[in-house]
Amino acid sequence: MPDVDDLKEGKKYYSDTPQKAEGFFLKGSNSLEWGMKDRLARIFNPVSGNTVMLAFDHGYLMGPTSGLERMDLTIVPLIEYADCIMCTRGALRTIVPPTAGKPVSLRYSSGTTVLTELNDECLMDIEEAARLNASLLAVMVAVGDRFEAATIRNLTRTVDLGTRYGIPTLGVTAVGKDMARDARYLSMASRVCAENGAHVVKTYYCEGFEQVTSTCPVPIVLAGGKKLPELDALTMAYNAIDQGANGVDMGRNIFQAGDPIAMIQAVKAVVHDREKPDKAFELYNTLKEERK
Ligand code: 5RP
Repeated sequence: MPDVDDLKEGKKYYSDTPQKAEGFFLKGSNSLEWGMKDRLARIFNPVSGNTVMLAFDHGYLMGPTSGLERMDLTIVPLIEYADCIMCTRGALRTIVPPTAGKPVSLRYSSGTTVLTELNDECLMDIEEAARLNASLLAVMVAVGDRFEAATIRNLTRTVDLGTRYGIPTLGVTAVGKDMARDARYLSMASRVCAENGAHVVKTYYCEGFEQVTSTCPVPIVLAGGKKLPELDALTMAYNAIDQGANGVDMGRNIFQAGDPIAMIQAVKAVVHDREKPDKAFELYNTLKEERK
C-alpha cells in the first residue's frame, strides 16, 4: 500500500502537445497487440528493420548433423552475435545458457525424421512455449505435400494458441524433394502462411525473389539452405535483403563455415548495414585472420 498522506493532484496536462500515435516498423504488424510487437521488436532490430536468426534446430529431424555434433562447443560461442536463436526445446534446455539474453524462435512443430517421411508433425503445449519464454513459434508448413492439410492445421492452431499469450508465429515453408523452389511456388507457400495468420514467414531464395517478398504481407526471413562457399552465401543474403527480405534465419551457412564466428559477423554486416557481398567477404577474411 503506497503512502497516501501527501498525494498531490496532477496538473501537467501538456494540452498543446497531442499524444503521438506511432506506427510499428515491421510490415503487416501495426495492428498486433503490445506483447506481439514487443517480441517482434526483440527479434527484428528497430533501426535496420532486419534480423539475423541463428538456426540450429536441424537435429530434430536430422540428428547430429555436421557442425551440430557438440552444440555446447560450436553453437554457444555464436549466440552472442545472433539477434535471435532458432532451436528446439531440447537444445534450449541442454546447451543454451539462460543468461544468453536472446529471443528464442522455438521449434514448435515436430514429428518425423529424414529416415521416413517429413512433415507429419504435431505441436507442443503452448504453456511449454510460455515457460521457455519463446518469442516466436516456428511451425513447418508443407504446401503441395501429402501432409499439406495437417501442416496448415498446425499453423492455424499455433496462431490461435500464440495469440492467447502474445507470441507470434513463424511459418516455415518446407521444400520437399518433389517441390519446386521457384518464385511461383514460394510466393504461394509464403502467402498461404501469411493468410493463415503467420506473423513472419521463412522461405528460400529463388530467381525473381521480389515476387515472393512483395506478395507476402508480413516480413520474410531467408532460410540459408545447404552450405555454399562463404562469398556465395553472403551474396545470396545481400540479394534477399535487397529484394525485400527482413533478414535471414540461417544455419548451415554459418555453423558449417570455415570460421563460423567470422561468418555470422559478416552476415550481420550485410543484413543490418547493407554491406556489399565483396566487402562483407573481406570482413569475413579479416576476422578469420585475426582469430588465427
Ligand atoms: C528446417 C528449418 C531449419 O531451421 C533451417 O532451414 C535450417 O537452416 P539452414 O537451411 O540455413 O541450414 O527451418 O526447415
